[in-house]
Amino acid sequence: MPSTDAWWRDAVIYQIYPRSFADGNGDGMGDLPGITARLPRLRELGIDAVWLSPFYVSPQHDAGYDVADYRDVDPRFGSLGDADKLIATAHDLGLKLIVDLVPNHTSSEHAWFKAALAAGPGSPERERYIFRDEPPNNWKSVFGGPAWQQVDDGQWYLHLFDVSQPDLNWDHPEVRAEFLDILRFWLDRGVDGFRVDVAHGLVKDAQLTDWTAPSVVLGGLEPAGPPPPMWDQEGVHEIYRQWRAVLDGYSPARIMVAEAWVQPEERLARYVRPDEMHQAFNFPYLEAPWKAGELREVIDSSLAATGSVGATTTWVLSNHDVVRHASRLGFPAGTGRKPGIGIGDPQPDTGLGLRRARAATLLMLGLPGSAYLYQGEELGLPEHTTLADEFRQDPAWERSGHAERGRDGCRVPIPWEADAPSYGFGPGDDSWLPQPTSWAEYALDRQVDVPGSTYELYRSALATRREHHLGGGSLIWSSTEGDVLAFRNGGILVLTNFGQEPVALPSDARVLLSSEPLGDDGRVPADVTVWAAV
Ligand code: GLC
Repeated sequence: MPSTDAWWRDAVIYQIYPRSFADGNGDGMGDLPGITARLPRLRELGIDAVWLSPFYVSPQHDAGYDVADYRDVDPRFGSLGDADKLIATAHDLGLKLIVDLVPNHTSSEHAWFKAALAAGPGSPERERYIFRDEPPNNWKSVFGGPAWQQVDDGQWYLHLFDVSQPDLNWDHPEVRAEFLDILRFWLDRGVDGFRVDVAHGLVKDAQLTDWTAPSVVLGGLEPAGPPPPMWDQEGVHEIYRQWRAVLDGYSPARIMVAEAWVQPEERLARYVRPDEMHQAFNFPYLEAPWKAGELREVIDSSLAATGSVGATTTWVLSNHDVVRHASRLGFPAGTGRKPGIGIGDPQPDTGLGLRRARAATLLMLGLPGSAYLYQGEELGLPEHTTLADEFRQDPAWERSGHAERGRDGCRVPIPWEADAPSYGFGPGDDSWLPQPTSWAEYALDRQVDVPGSTYELYRSALATRREHHLGGGSLIWSSTEGDVLAFRNGGILVLTNFGQEPVALPSDARVLLSSEPLGDDGRVPADVTVWAAV
C-alpha cells in the first residue's frame, strides 16, 4: 500500500481493458463480474491501483470510447450494481480504482447528439457540438479521412476521431456543467479518480484554422513547434482547474491522469501543475527507442519537467492503443512505432522482444515515480501480430483505407489457464477477438510459482520496489557510458545493458533481481536489467 494520502505519487497502476480481461458470463466479451472475480489475482501481483477503460453504455464503435450514457454501464459489461460491487471489492482488497472519462466527444448515439440532429441547424441543441454550414478547415480525423461529416440537412460536424464520435463544444456552459455532474456521479460511487481521455483536445483554436502538418495517426507525438489548432490549447487548463476543485472536495484524495499526447515535456507538465491534474501519461518515455542515450535523455527531461511543478513522473510501456512492448522491442532498436501489425507485415523477433521487454520493465519499475502496467504484460504477452484482417474492429483500419492495421492486436483477450477454453478468459470458447494458438505458454497458471517466469519477475519486482520504496525514491546516475544505463535509487543499483558485450557489476553489489540469468562470471549480458543492493 502506498504510505501517504498522496497515494498516486509512487503507485503502480494496472490498466484493465474490460472487454478483454475476464468474461464472467461466457459471451466472449469481458465484463465487470469477470473483473471482480479476478481482482484477488491483481492483489497477489502486488499492484496498488486499477484503471478501468470505459464500460459505459456505448454502441462500441470505438470499443467504448464512444459513450452514449456516462452514468450507466453497458449491458455487455454488466450493471451499475456490478460496478458498485467491483469498486467495493477493490477497496476491500486495498486497491484503488480509477475509471475512464471521455470528455472530448460523445457517441453519436448520445441523447444530446440525437437531439442535435432532430432539432436542426441553428438550434440550441446543435450548439453543444461543433456544427458548421461548410467544413471550415482541412482537419483530418486521427483515425484517417476527413474530420468533418455532413448530416442530412446539409450541415457538417467535427469529429477528431471516428464519425460516430462527434466532438463536444467546450465553450458551452451546459457541456461544462454536465461533466462536473458526471465527475460527482462516479466520485459519489466511490471511485478514486479518472483517466481523462484526449485531455489535450477539448478546446479548439477559436478560428478553427487549417492545419497542414502530416497527420499523426493513433496518438503519435506531434512534432515540436506551436501546438496544432486542435490540440493543447491554453483553454483546456481552466477546465482541469475546475475539475480539480471538485476532486479536492473528496477524501481520501481522488486523482486525475491526463492522456495528453503533448510535447515537449515542459508542455505536458502544465497539465500537472498543483491545481490541475495529478499525473499525465509519459508517452515520450513509451516512444523512446531501446537505446541507452535516448532513454537517459527522456528520463532526465521527464523528471525535470514534472519536478518543476512539484508533480510525480509516470512511466508506461504499453496500453490499449500501442503495439505491446514485448513485440515492439522485437524489432531492431530505433524502428519507429507501428500503428498495428498484421499478416504480411514484417514480424518481430519474439524471443528478443520478450527479453528486452523484461529488461525494459525492470528498468521502469526501478525509476522513482508512478508506473502504469497494461493487462497481460505481466505474462510477457506479445501483440497478436497475425490476426486475420477480417476480425479487425478498430475504426482506424477502415478509416485509414486499410493503411493502418490498428490496435486490435494489443486488445486480444488475455490467457489465464493454458488448458481451458479461451485460455480461461471465460467459461466458453468464444472471445471477441480470436486468441493465437500459441498463447497457452503465456497463461497465468503456467507461470505462477515458476521461477524465472515473467509473472514471477513482475511479482518480485513489485514486492522489492515496495520494500525499498523505489517509487518514492530519487535517481542518481552512476554510469551512463556507452550502452549501459545505471543509476542508484536509494540503496538499489539499477543497471541495464543495451550493448552486446556483457558488463561487470561493482564488486560490492548484491544482486536482488535480474531480468534474465547472469553469466557464470556474474556479468550482465546483453538486454538485461539487474537490481542490486549496493
Ligand atoms: C484515446 C483512447 C483511444 C480512443 C481515443 C478516442 O486516445 O485511448 O483508445 O480511441 O482516445 O476516444
